[in-house]
Amino acid sequence: MGQNPTILVFDSGLGGLTVLREIVRARPEARYVYVADDAFFPYGHHSEEEIIGRVVPLAGDLITEHRPDLVVIACNTMSVSVMGHLRAAYAVPFVGTVPAIKPACLSSRTKRVSVLGTKATVKREYTQALIRDFAQGCEVTLVGSAELAALAETALSGGVVSDEAILAELVPCFVGASEEPERRTDTIVLACTHYPLLLDRLNRLAPWPVAWIDPAPAIARRVTSLLPESRDGPNEAEARMIFTSGRPPRMSKALMPFFGGRVLA
Ligand code: DGL
Repeated sequence: MGQNPTILVFDSGLGGLTVLREIVRARPEARYVYVADDAFFPYGHHSEEEIIGRVVPLAGDLITEHRPDLVVIACNTMSVSVMGHLRAAYAVPFVGTVPAIKPACLSSRTKRVSVLGTKATVKREYTQALIRDFAQGCEVTLVGSAELAALAETALSGGVVSDEAILAELVPCFVGASEEPERRTDTIVLACTHYPLLLDRLNRLAPWPVAWIDPAPAIARRVTSLLPESRDGPNEAEARMIFTSGRPPRMSKALMPFFGGRVLA
């Protein structure tokens, strides 16, 4: 490992930036390569076989090119489909992003938890197994959203997204009656890394207040535990952003905060 470790963060688009932001806070001295596989977006519309066929060779090319010390799969849809294949194929350590069902069920007081993810994530056996193993007596409602990731991309790119469009994806998460706070949903797992990009609007549009569970801080802690701290290098190493479609990262000003203020190389 050189002076500053290289961390490769990989998502289907801009959602993984919500994970990157927490990792950068925890490891400001690392060098970052952020890869958005926008040529294949949205992952939530692909089958498990298609995702495995896409991600395993692409990850291999990225590892060969960028020589990361650690790869973060900052995408639930990818992680619940392909992590085992990646770990079997490559020696570099991987950190995945999977629905935070265990902490959500632990903290719910009403024992009604919803998991909001892509249609692919909520369908996968990996997610079903998390519920079997960690529901801890909670009633868990799986809500597969077809559009919310794309709406988050549009919003972050400066496009207009109506409240109605967001609310339509959100409403199925709210189970129970608003006048029965002891029995209604009180916790929602953000099981797609795109959704925290819309958190202000989710809070504003929610029929009643809930706790939103974002796994990004836990992922940052996991990264920190796997990469020994490097004290020698400069405190803010370089950051790069790559779109597989080849489009240049035009909105670099809007994206800078996710990279801890770094100017993209
Ligand atoms: N960001 C991805 C996730 O966490 C999903 C977006 C997509 O459908 O590509 O699941």
